[in-house]
Amino acid sequence: ETDPQLKELFAGKFYVGAAMNRRQITGEDAQTIDLLQRHFNSITPENVMKSERIQPREGEFSFDLADAFVAFGEKNGLHIVGHTLIWHSQAPDWFFTDSQGREVSARVLKQRMETHIKTLVGRYKGRVHGWDVVNEAILDDGSYRKSKFYQILGEEFIHLAFQFAHEADPEAALYYNDYSMANPGKRKGVIAMVRALQEKGLRIDGIGMQGHIGMRYPSLEEFEKSIVSFADLGVTVMITELDLTVLPSPGNQAGAEISDTKAYRDALNPYTDGLPEEVSAAFTQRYLDFFRLFLKHADKISRVTTWGVTDRQSWKNNWPVRGRTDYPLLFGRDQLPKPIVHALRKLVT
Ligand code: G3I
Repeated sequence: ETDPQLKELFAGKFYVGAAMNRRQITGEDAQTIDLLQRHFNSITPENVMKSERIQPREGEFSFDLADAFVAFGEKNGLHIVGHTLIWHSQAPDWFFTDSQGREVSARVLKQRMETHIKTLVGRYKGRVHGWDVVNEAILDDGSYRKSKFYQILGEEFIHLAFQFAHEADPEAALYYNDYSMANPGKRKGVIAMVRALQEKGLRIDGIGMQGHIGMRYPSLEEFEKSIVSFADLGVTVMITELDLTVLPSPGNQAGAEISDTKAYRDALNPYTDGLPEEVSAAFTQRYLDFFRLFLKHADKISRVTTWGVTDRQSWKNNWPVRGRTDYPLLFGRDQLPKPIVHALRKLVT
């Protein structure tokens, strides 16, 4: 019995993507590259296209890893997603300050956004198929995040980002990407923001729902409501950054008052020797529930991307505290497909 290939299982329904990290892009991590090639037909760069990596100092662009990422995608015939043009996090300080350290004017910030976006999107014109243009600009209550971009430009920064990206590559699909999208407040804010773009006649093709999920949050019902209401806007829905943690979160376990103690860290890291049978079974069920939902709405969903390939490289091992042993992905530390992968084959065949 050969491994079911994820991309074959969902062929004709949606792309199955993975985030690629630096060691995969450079080719150092040969084993997970093999998994990537066998199971996935879309890639997103986990970090190498973020603004602080691409343009660490004004006018100094660093494209080596991004070039290698795109070349890998082309060589393997993959659907290539760029991530991410405008994000408050991992944006270098110089973006918002002048040489005296003062906050820049709206005019200067606009100019910097235009240069950054047009240089990056323009470089990969016709090669990167879609871009996460703006990432995480809306808070859970639906209001705008008070980022530097917002403080200086107001919501116009979002419109400008989409406009500049479209001017740089008129063929590229353009996306808005955010987390906790099942949250009703966030859903409402995202819908209003997308409508504003559409009313201005700006291009927006899709909404990325980051899938950093846990065993209880989000509820399938609320997640489904978001899939449906986003699709109703006439855009495609993508499940991006999918990973499922079985570990406790600081909110519901050990209190923040002991957050610097070893006891706190141990409480957040309960399964260092592998998952107990019942936890592993619940993990498979929970993933299956979500994939059933994705299949039910396959007419609305164009891509499901996991945030990494194997548990070994997942960012979840370092969040919210460093040095955790997490198990959030479809392939284990041993590079083998987990029971969920076999369950998915049963589900679709
Ligand atoms: O590569 C450097 C290494 O040279 C250095 O020695 C080390 C010391 O800190 O840091 C390494 O960089 C880290 C990088 O991940 C690669 O491991 C950064 O510190 C760390 O901040 C970075 O975290 C990334 C995070 O975004 C912040 O950019 C995660 O890998 C990445 O998975 C995560 O992805 C985000 C999405 O882009 C947007 N949505 C949320 C998602 C999870 O936070």
